[in-house]
Amino acid sequence: MTEPLSRVPVTVQVGLGERSYDILIGEGVLASAGAEIARRLPGTRVAVITDTNVAAAHLPVLETSLREAGIDSVAVRLAPGERSKSFEALQETVDAVLGARLERRDTIVALGGGVVGDLAGFAAGIVRRGMNFVQIPTSLLAQVDSSVGGKTGINTAHGKNLAGIFNQPKLVLADTGVLDTLPEREFRAGYAEVAKYGLINDAGFFHWLEKNWGEVFSGGPARAEAIARSCRAKAAIVERDERETGERALLNLGHTFGHALEAATGYDSARLVHGEGVAIGMALAHRFSARLNLASVDDAARVEAHLTEIGLPVRIAQIPGELPGAEALLSFIAQDKKVLRGALTFILTRGIGQAFVAKDVPASQVLAFLKECLAQ
Ligand code: GLY
Repeated sequence: MTEPLSRVPVTVQVGLGERSYDILIGEGVLASAGAEIARRLPGTRVAVITDTNVAAAHLPVLETSLREAGIDSVAVRLAPGERSKSFEALQETVDAVLGARLERRDTIVALGGGVVGDLAGFAAGIVRRGMNFVQIPTSLLAQVDSSVGGKTGINTAHGKNLAGIFNQPKLVLADTGVLDTLPEREFRAGYAEVAKYGLINDAGFFHWLEKNWGEVFSGGPARAEAIARSCRAKAAIVERDERETGERALLNLGHTFGHALEAATGYDSARLVHGEGVAIGMALAHRFSARLNLASVDDAARVEAHLTEIGLPVRIAQIPGELPGAEALLSFIAQDKKVLRGALTFILTRGIGQAFVAKDVPASQVLAFLKECLAQ
């Protein structure tokens, strides 16, 4: 019997020479994890790093698949949430992997969202000076962004993601079906990163999303296609600039304003989650570009209209609760970025699909723009 089309995984390759790897995208790929890992890493044992929420929903399927492929595994269940991106959780993970007597040729598998992937990837890079690493992202954000490209790390008292390494996985398995169990707010927030790829350099993709977003949300082939196009877009940028010496910074479109807003809310996820900060940030980046006469007001309005239709916030005023003033927001931006003689680096745009890295944005213009935004 032929398999229905939506169950045939799409493969996207990240081409990095001898460190190249596949991303398999499709409904049900979680159940084939054992076979895919055994084929690429014969004889391996596995430590699955996950959190207690994801473990309850998806660990049994993964464990069955590993067992059926003859792979011996142990599971490390961390507390869910951003607090697990910490030195303490890293130590717990490293100790558990060593306690299970896994060796350098064995494999750490991240089963979870961005927090688990970033932490597990860091652990895989340092235990015994580097074990194999496989990503099984279970959130939309992790499937289209954080599981691809090799950025791993934890947060420190000085800020987010400040201790870490580049560590490319050997394989990424993005099961589009597991996204059915995500809370709607989390799926919407992940969608901001999907829209980002259209806004960076693919106006055709943004247009496709404007027409097809409903089906991306409901699941099926359109969802797999959106994830595959996002992964292809990210892979292409990572292949050209793995260590972010230039072009990879484009992936931060919307993140400069977004990170500042996340920091200003004290990373309170009840008020703002990362993807929502990125949505507001992308809308602001387009409005700011229009304000600087780089892009048209119509394009900025089109971006806002699409994100609003999805149910994402696009204005600072949509964040519930009190926020600090424009000067304080600018100081959060300055903390996040290098400031060189009063100038900031921003991702700006000449229109939909035409983002660019601007290294010389005067802080005074950013401040004036933020004041305008807060007065609205
Ligand atoms: N999430 C941004 C990057 O991977 O470079």
